[in-house]
Amino acid sequence: MLLAAACVLPAAPALADLALATSKNCMSCHNIDKKVVGPAYKDVAAKYKGDKAAAARLATKIMEGGGGVWGVVKMPSNPQVNEAEAKKLAAWVLSQ
Ligand code: HEC
Repeated sequence: MLLAAACVLPAAPALADLALATSKNCMSCHNIDKKVVGPAYKDVAAKYKGDKAAAARLATKIMEGGGGVWGVVKMPSNPQVNEAEAKKLAAWVLSQ
């Protein structure tokens, strides 16, 4: 699955982005294809498929946190993520 993603997205190596997500602690609440505390990244990608504004919106939400979309639990803000990293992570999540 990760290798397939790397093939369709040569500009954003999926494995490097998984490492980034892991190092930024995202994977302690998220999994690619299972709901943990937060939604599975595949479900996020499916929800916003075809939504061109989603990447920018998700990048902001990754940095600032927020809730109300997937359930009662809120995502805390992630001050360890800068804007460039948030954009990269949002694009990666949407590519799952
Ligand atoms: C403490 C747990 C936790 C951590 C850490 C966390 N998240 Fe989340 N995340 C959540 C929860 C809970 C939601 C659902 C929020 C909602 O319902 O709006 C969520 C939602 C999301 C969404 C979908 C937002 C939407 O509006 O649909 C994305 C994308 C996301 N997280 C990415 C990340 C990334 C990238 C990181 C790492 C920088 C991260 N998360 C770290 C708990 C977490």
